[in-house]
Amino acid sequence: MSEFNHLKSHFLLNPEITFLNFGSFGATPKSVFELYQTYQADLERDPVQFITVKTPQLLRQSREALAGFLHCDADDLVMVTNPSYAVNTIAKSLNLEPGDEILTTNLEYGACDRAWDYVCASRGAYYVQQPITLPLTSDEKFMEELFEGVSNQTKLIFISHITSATALILPVEKVIKKANSYGIPVFIDGAHVPGHIHLDLQQLDPDFYTGACHKWLMTPKGSSFMYVNKAWQEQIFPLAVSWGYKAVKPSHSQFIDWHEMNGTNDYAARLCIPEALKFRKDYNWDDVAQQCRTIVQSNAEIFARLLHSHTLAPVTDHYIGQMLSVPIQTNDPDKLYRSFVDEYKIEIPVMHQNGINYLRYSINGFNSQADLDILFEVIEQIIKKGLIQ
Ligand SMILES: Cc1ncc(COP(=O)(O)O)c(C=O)c1O
Repeated sequence: MSEFNHLKSHFLLNPEITFLNFGSFGATPKSVFELYQTYQADLERDPVQFITVKTPQLLRQSREALAGFLHCDADDLVMVTNPSYAVNTIAKSLNLEPGDEILTTNLEYGACDRAWDYVCASRGAYYVQQPITLPLTSDEKFMEELFEGVSNQTKLIFISHITSATALILPVEKVIKKANSYGIPVFIDGAHVPGHIHLDLQQLDPDFYTGACHKWLMTPKGSSFMYVNKAWQEQIFPLAVSWGYKAVKPSHSQFIDWHEMNGTNDYAARLCIPEALKFRKDYNWDDVAQQCRTIVQSNAEIFARLLHSHTLAPVTDHYIGQMLSVPIQTNDPDKLYRSFVDEYKIEIPVMHQNGINYLRYSINGFNSQADLDILFEVIEQIIKKGLIQ
């Protein structure tokens, strides 16, 4: 991986920090960030023309570039701020009635759980979080456990493509196929997916999909997308109703008007998608990502053993991407996290789900084996201090 050390210079990350948490908020290459700031300056120089004329053109270019990358029709996705926004939009648009159920797993992202919890409670519906046994051993077992939660009241399956605290790639292709056979629509939370693992939306064919561009696609923050299958587009209402609803000058797509024209905003982050894709291409990011996965996987057993723990699935490309998470024993997860950051200058998240604490590392092009070697040394010291048991 030392051959990628030169990639560090393309990022603004503080070199004094061992940065092992790309997963939370990504990190943007300098060239993309510079364009972002250029757009913001252009807006301030000529706000009216930039917002009313230039932004719609650039947004369309962003949408088209992203659609090309994700293999879908550019009219089937809209740019949104973040995946939470997309989850709220779709959850609030569904015609949920008392007794209806949204089926999910107990491995989902907390913010999304909260959105569903809120919407279901307000409609008298239920958010059914099917327990999944960890470590995952096979897709079949996972599918069996998830689909045990299906009932006559199941209106939708909501599931992560890559989970957050546990960092697992879930077999969403199989979930969609099986759900289709029951006539149940599927909404995939792919916050971690664009730029991380290959995504072909046409082939996957979900009803709904959301992904963040500001994580593994490396755009500035506030840039994500919401994909809605054509069959559903008329039923998904804007979260914020504004000029795009009953638009005075409608575009060719009501779906795009409803969800993209929703008030004055700084769209600069969303406009950087073509530049972020160019950066990936210029630096052969598919190869970089492959090398990163090799680092992630080849260190998995050492990491788990050091922490007296175990991995959460077979360590192969099928379940593991550029992040790896293992359960840890600690009496004080907050103190542990602060110790990594304040004493050792290591940014690594200590996560919590279903009563279990997890330590998760992410590897991207600016990392090297040396970063994990530093982490492992520090873990040994922290164990001696008793912060990890
Ligand atoms: C699995 C998952 N879903 C959704 C999100 C999106 O969160 P937000 O809307 O705050 O960007 C994240 C963020 O880390 C995530 O890991």
